[in-house]
Amino acid sequence: MSLPSGWFGRLAAPVVAAPMFLTSTPDLVVGTSASGIVGSFPALNQRSTQGFEDWLIEISGRLDPARDAPWGVNLVVHKSNDRLEADLAQLVKHKVPLVITSLGLNRDLIREVQGYGGVVFHDVISMEFAEKAIEAGVDGLIAVTHGAGGHAGVLNPFAFLQQLRTVFDGTLLLGGAVSTGAQVMAARLMGADLAYIGSRFLATRESGVSERQKAMMVDATAEDVILTPAVSGIPANFLRQSFVGAGLDPDDRRPPEELNLTIRNKDVKPWKDLWAAGQGVGAIDDIPAVADLCHRLREEYRAAGRHAAELIHG
Ligand SMILES: Cc1cc2nc3c(=O)[nH]c(=O)nc-3n(C[C@H](O)[C@H](O)[C@H](O)COP(=O)(O)O)c2cc1C
Repeated sequence: MSLPSGWFGRLAAPVVAAPMFLTSTPDLVVGTSASGIVGSFPALNQRSTQGFEDWLIEISGRLDPARDAPWGVNLVVHKSNDRLEADLAQLVKHKVPLVITSLGLNRDLIREVQGYGGVVFHDVISMEFAEKAIEAGVDGLIAVTHGAGGHAGVLNPFAFLQQLRTVFDGTLLLGGAVSTGAQVMAARLMGADLAYIGSRFLATRESGVSERQKAMMVDATAEDVILTPAVSGIPANFLRQSFVGAGLDPDDRRPPEELNLTIRNKDVKPWKDLWAAGQGVGAIDDIPAVADLCHRLREEYRAAGRHAAELIHG
């Protein structure tokens, strides 16, 4: 198992609760990490760098590094993010244990985080991006595979993970429709060190989205998830019914720019009115407290391990 040093023995189950725009709150991060699962949130969930720092202070004040699991922040490393430098300065100041980068790589950022003892995981959807990230010196690679909530890849998890393992011996995470502890065990058996779970944590009491959105997650099946570039120009998975609820046709196949225009003309707010979710919704049928969900994942993970041993030894 390839985990960052200092993480061994601190996790109830090998899981990172993935950062989710408008969804991951301090209560969700603290709830997961205090229950032995790595919590995280996107820096952009706060409207300003000052607000972001307030959350860093709140979360580190509520967690005990000697007892709780590590936690992390997601930074969008893209030229559209004009807060990158200021938010990075706050991360360094508060020595956030884990930084998850997406939509771009930045070598200086990686060095700065590693310089204070933090680790950087980077999410990838192809071997090309993975090789660039390895070359840049990341500590971990997150394989975002077919069926993941939000910006998803198109590769099959078996195929992608196997290829990644041949070129990378750092921490490997698998994301995409993982909703149960048995699936976490399956990811481990396939060669991942950690599972990366988003959608399942969206349907918890502590997540920041509306009760209507949580209820839609419970009702939805994998077939209700559509992969569309309509919202941000990049293919991402959304709940079909949220398009219908916003007066849009989920099967409209016009080019992304045109659809984006339609969305704006209708005064629909992407992500706020159109709800991202992965195909793992089919396995979600309740809205538990996050501590109960973490406990359940741990128990299911252990039971799956015992089951795997029985399959071999009879
Ligand atoms: C509602 C929602 C919002 C998301 N927002 C972000 C984000 O801000 N940054 C990011 O790197 N990934 C984001 N993601 C992707 C997740 O971090 C993760 O890759 C994905 O949820 C894993 O797949 P799963 O949802 O099938 O578990 C989001 C996913 C969802 C469902």
